[in-house]
Amino acid sequence: MSTPPLASGPQGPAALRPLLDTVLDALDGGRTARGGPLPAGGPAAVAARMRDALGETLPDEGDPHALHTLVHALAEGSADPADPLCTAHLHCPPLAVAAAADLAASALNPSLDSWDQAPAASALEALVTRDLAREAGLADAVVTTGGTESNQLALLLARETHPGLRLVCGANAHHSLPRAAWLLGLPDPVVVPAPTGTLDPAALHTALTGLGGPRGSVLVAATAGTTDAGLIDPLPEIAGLCAAHGARLHIDAAHGGSLLFSDRHRDKLTGLEAAHTVTLDLHKLGWQPLAAGILAVRHPRDLAVLDRRADYLNADDDTEAGLPDLLGRSLRTSRRPDILKIAVTLRTLGRRGLATLVDQVCARAREFADLIHHHPGFDLHDRPTISTVLFRPSGACDEAVAAARRTLLTGGRAVLGRARLGDRLWLKATLLNPAVRPDDLAALLKLVEGSTPR
Ligand SMILES: Cc1ncc(COP(=O)(O)O)c(C=O)c1O
Repeated sequence: MSTPPLASGPQGPAALRPLLDTVLDALDGGRTARGGPLPAGGPAAVAARMRDALGETLPDEGDPHALHTLVHALAEGSADPADPLCTAHLHCPPLAVAAAADLAASALNPSLDSWDQAPAASALEALVTRDLAREAGLADAVVTTGGTESNQLALLLARETHPGLRLVCGANAHHSLPRAAWLLGLPDPVVVPAPTGTLDPAALHTALTGLGGPRGSVLVAATAGTTDAGLIDPLPEIAGLCAAHGARLHIDAAHGGSLLFSDRHRDKLTGLEAAHTVTLDLHKLGWQPLAAGILAVRHPRDLAVLDRRADYLNADDDTEAGLPDLLGRSLRTSRRPDILKIAVTLRTLGRRGLATLVDQVCARAREFADLIHHHPGFDLHDRPTISTVLFRPSGACDEAVAAARRTLLTGGRAVLGRARLGDRLWLKATLLNPAVRPDDLAALLKLVEGSTPR
């Protein structure tokens, strides 16, 4: 067998072009075979189809059709965030231009652990991360695999500068925050009630007063865009309390951070600039393929705790001779240039283009909420702050709400999320698809109506 072609080098483009046609063809065929937002039949049917498509994982002889077969099977069995009825999670339909840029990253394969593996990518990352941090009112940023890693890193940076650190977060905080405290060997976090879905400043004041301790030994984590309801904690009040009590402030803006791009919605993030660290995540409301996380920091020196020496990557004499030292830009070693697709997207759409997308999904969510509000068969939880809408069939018990969601999932007809708020179970629509039309939302409600057991 001849050597399989490489993705880069002189033969790369010629080898990739027909393969791309194969991939695009398989994506289209798989989507058509699926015929809806996700595959019908539930987990057993999907697993059986995938088992058939895969056959033997490592056959003695290779199969030249494997690319088409497996991409087709993956597309057929995917929950497609570009389908208007796929609205459960912060799972965005990626922009075509971002996916295309990601192909270049895969083909060239720069690895951001040393300059000699990623000369241009490392320069691009340094420029774009700093500019993104400035959008949030901070000084520098590092690229992560998403909100979870950004939150972990924020806690690590705080712990390294403030031994004995204690995390204080709302009951509405993302699960990755208490988990990061566990991972880092910190004491259990103090969890402040958030009965209405946002962190209660009076309860935070009580918690901070009770904790005392030296300045900086408490890290308060607030949320700008909760996972369940897209709510934004009262950031200015929280920042004021942190300043008064000498606590550090981390803001998890994994969900809401992209409101910064919109003139119409940016004010909702007032207070973000007071944080010591901010989690951003462009694979949510930034229309990037996974992964596109960012952790922004107020002081570039905060990142110094990540510095490490490994002679094969950043020998002292190389650094002294001017080779950029990249090991301190992440906890990972080998690292994809996720910054490329982000930079391409920012430049291609510009601030106005991104703002239009943000404004569109927020407007669609408001329209959907209005539709629900005026529908006699549904209860609306509240008007959306970003683009999450919680609703439930009127008079249905929690079990019926949960069953309706599962019926739609296993029938392959709609992907809705679920959230528990105010002691009731709600259906959750997180609208991240700017192409969704009002008709689609009306159709979604009809599907829920027809699937709720009475
Ligand atoms: C507020 C918030 N923070 C963090 C995360 C974790 O992000 P990721 O899944 O990219 O790790 C999420 C995920 O939904 C989130 O909603």
